[in-house]
Parts: sequence; structure tokens; C-alpha cells
Amino acid sequence: MAYDLIVIGSGPGGYVCAIKAAQLGLKVAVVEKRQTYGGTCLNIGCIPSKALLHASEMYSHAAHGMEALGIDGLKPTLNLANMMAHKDATVKSNVDGVSFLFKKNKIDGIQGTGKVLGKGKVSVTNAAGEEQVLETRNIVIATGSDVAGIPGVPVEIDETVIVSSTGGIALEKVPEHLIVVGGGVIGLELGSVWGRLGAKVTVVEYLDTILGGMDGEVSKQFQRMLVKQGMEFKLGAKVTGVEKAGSGARVTFEPVKGGDATAIDADVVLIATGRKPYTEGLGLAEAGVALDSRGRVEIDNHFRTNVEGIYALGDVVRGPMLAHKAEDEGVAVAEIIAGQAGHVNYDVIPGVVYTQPEVASVGKTEEELKAAGVAYKAGKFPFTANGRARAMLATDGFVKVLADKETDRVLGVHIVGFGAGEMIHEAAVLMEFGGSSEDLGRTCHAHPTMSEAVKEAALATFFKPIHM
Ligand code: NAI
Repeated sequence: MAYDLIVIGSGPGGYVCAIKAAQLGLKVAVVEKRQTYGGTCLNIGCIPSKALLHASEMYSHAAHGMEALGIDGLKPTLNLANMMAHKDATVKSNVDGVSFLFKKNKIDGIQGTGKVLGKGKVSVTNAAGEEQVLETRNIVIATGSDVAGIPGVPVEIDETVIVSSTGGIALEKVPEHLIVVGGGVIGLELGSVWGRLGAKVTVVEYLDTILGGMDGEVSKQFQRMLVKQGMEFKLGAKVTGVEKAGSGARVTFEPVKGGDATAIDADVVLIATGRKPYTEGLGLAEAGVALDSRGRVEIDNHFRTNVEGIYALGDVVRGPMLAHKAEDEGVAVAEIIAGQAGHVNYDVIPGVVYTQPEVASVGKTEEELKAAGVAYKAGKFPFTANGRARAMLATDGFVKVLADKETDRVLGVHIVGFGAGEMIHEAAVLMEFGGSSEDLGRTCHAHPTMSEAVKEAALATFFKPIHM
């Protein structure tokens, strides 16, 4: 029997697309080669890393942060095996949740490696090597991304000494020294985990700033906070070699501006230099599906590839490699296939770095507005002036609101501070509705909350904050 839709890949993009399509009345199957659903995010990415970020934060808080609150005598000991068990249990409950949702929505889950045979045909080969060919009206490619490695540098990732994020969430002991290659999101999140658990962490980053692409002021202040936490940075440093050395590994890097190479040794090296679209073995070339110059599946504004009835979404296509971007695309594609008007607003996709404090942003950075020649105004408010932040000893950081100088429409909001990843969503909703900084500043915010700093930053944008 033919399906209305076969989705290849069950990550946040694929599984959400499948559920939405089934909710809209389509007959859906999902092909997944991993033993469990949920893709990189649920199995080896967002979810397990958040379990470790939370647990390591609790540990470090218990070890260092309680005396100031009048709680003495805590001397926690680390039980890494149990911390990993918490991570594994978190993953299991999430991937089981996807299985449950598939059953509930009568979606056929088909285990095996999917290959596009052309319009309307998908082959699936299971672990025993048996192949079946399925027929479908529509195909969605949602195969995600894979570790990119260091451009131009051969690195042998063994996932024990030289690790990607996959090995980086499964170390059997806390390294004495961890070198992180790449000061992006993965490097700083996993560097934070192992730093809190006792490792010396050195981040080697090509650019002059960490979190390249983030608002410059946020990135600078955030780096200072990480340095205070003990993280070391080698910026403007191009890694040219990573090799095993003794029981550990050696990282060689040279100044981007030119100069002598330096080598440092560590017991573990985390390679966090980006991810690349995953299209291997999918048969796209044979099926005539076009890729762009960066190896991503090429799509139009309606997620259509150049082959009729074949769509693509998530990390395998253009745009930020973020689970929630893929999820929203999944919903839009399902709606389009069902004959509705699916759409994603790429101007309002929040980004969160789940360190402590968190970094969150939505919309344009000051650098982007300057480059585009947009006349804007900026309002800022520091958490040092927020009552709740003082009560929680969480005064590090600030909120920055950027609005159009003439219309006052909010164009970007950037937060570094405790709970930034939750607070950013009021800005996202405001921006989705085309709101102004005055709308935000005149919205009543509960007292005392960290979110009052968002309101105050908005007040600072269109007039003056009260508490400064
Ligand atoms: P990234 O692109 O965020 O950062 C990679 C960094 O490596 C860049 O700063 C780059 O300049 C640096 N780099 C590249 N080559 C280098 C070299 N030879 N020497 C030194 N530095 C070098 O990539 P990352 O952190 O690996 O993350 C991959 C993807 O996963 C990203 O798209 C990210 O958005 C996503 N992700 C998102 C998370 C979140 O939203 N919280 C969490 C984890 C991953």
C-alpha cells in the first residue's frame, strides 16, 4: 500500500513532520537507521548534554556556591557513573516518548537505512541486509548532520582520547586537562560540563571571539565570565594538527595573523569545529536530487527539492543547525504536503547556549544592523540592578534590546544571564507580532523576576529604565 509521506530520519525535524502530517490525516512512515528515534538531538546531542549540564551545575553549586547563601559544610563527591546513568535515563524517556507518539498517531516506524530511489520510491535496508521498497506520494529528507572535523586537518576521532560531542558526553573519567578545538556552542557547553567536574579546560578558537556570529558585546562579556570560572582561551589560533601523544593527545596551533606554532598536550581533545549535512548513502545523486556548493540539499522557499514530491528540511538544508528550526520546518512541510500554507519565520529563531549563565538571542545583532546600514537604538539593563538576581546571587549579565530608530519595532534581543534561555521567548513572541520596545516596556512583568530586566531594557530603548 502506498504512503502519503515517507520521512527519512527521525530527528526533531523528521519526527515532528511525521506527527504533524499524521495529525492532518496523512498516512505516514518514518525510516530510521538508529535503534531509537529522536536523531542526534535526543540520542547524542541536545538532550543528553542538557542532562550533564544540569547535573554538573548542581555539583559545582554544591561544591562552591552554597556558603554565600549560609549553607555550610557541603562537600559533594562526584559519582560520574550515576551522573551518566541520569543522562541515559533522560535519553531513554525522550526516545520512548517519540515511539509512543508514533503509535498514538498511527505512524509506521521502519527500522533500517533509507535510500531515495527517485520520485515516490524509497528503499529500506535493515541490519540483516534485507531490502524492501516502499511507495509513497511524498518523501521528506530529514537526515540531519554529522561531525565536520577540522577543515583541512586530518583528525582521527576515536571517541575516547580524541572525541567529538558523541564521546564528549560519555567520558569514563574526568580528564585532568581537556582541550576544546572550537569556541562555538558545543565547545563551550561541553567544556563547561567537564570544567565544573574538575577538568582544566583550554579552548582553542580560530576567530578573535567566542560564539562567532553572536552579538559582539554579549560574546565579550560572556567570555570574561567563563574566564572567571577557570576556562582558558587561545583566540585567533588556527589548529593545524591533532595527534595522539602517549596516553593523551597533542594539539598544534598557530596564530591566524602569522607566527610560530605552539603545541599543548591534554588527556582528552574535543573536536567541536562544526557539523556538516548528512547525505551519505541516500542515493541523492542517482535520484537526481541537487545539492548546493556546501553539500546541503537544495530547496526552494517551499522546502521542495528539484525532484517533484521530494522535500528536505533541518540540518541537511540551509539555515542554522538548530533542533527547533528543524521542528518548525517539519510542521511547515507537513502543512504544505497536506495542501495548507506552511511557513517558517527565519527572522525570529531564538538561539540559546546552555552554559551558566546562559546566552540567548533572537533577531539581529548590533553588528548585523550596522552592516546592513539600519538606523537603530539600543537599550541595556544589567542583572546587578535586578532584585531577584541579587537574591539568587545571579547578577552576572545583562539584557540588550535593539529597535528600529524610527518605528521602534524590536529587531533583536540579546541576553546573557541566569535563565536567559527561558526569558528570550517573550522577545520572540513580541517580534513575531511585530512589537515595539514600548510594547515590551509597557507590558506588566511580575515582581520580582529576572524577566523584569527584559522590560527595563525595553524601557531603556524607548525612554529610560526605572531602576537605573
Ligand atoms: P560552531 O560552528 O558553533 O563552532 C565551531 C567553531 O570552531 C567556530 O567558532 C570556528 O571558528 C572554530 N574553528 C573551525 N576551525 C578551526 C580551527 N582549525 N582551529 C580553531 N578553531 C576552529 O560548531 P559546533 O560548536 O561544533 O556546533 C555544531 C552545530 O551544532 C552548530 O550549528 C550549533 O548551532 C549546533 N548546536 C547548537 C546547540 C544549541 O543550540 N545550544 C548545542 C550544540 C550544537
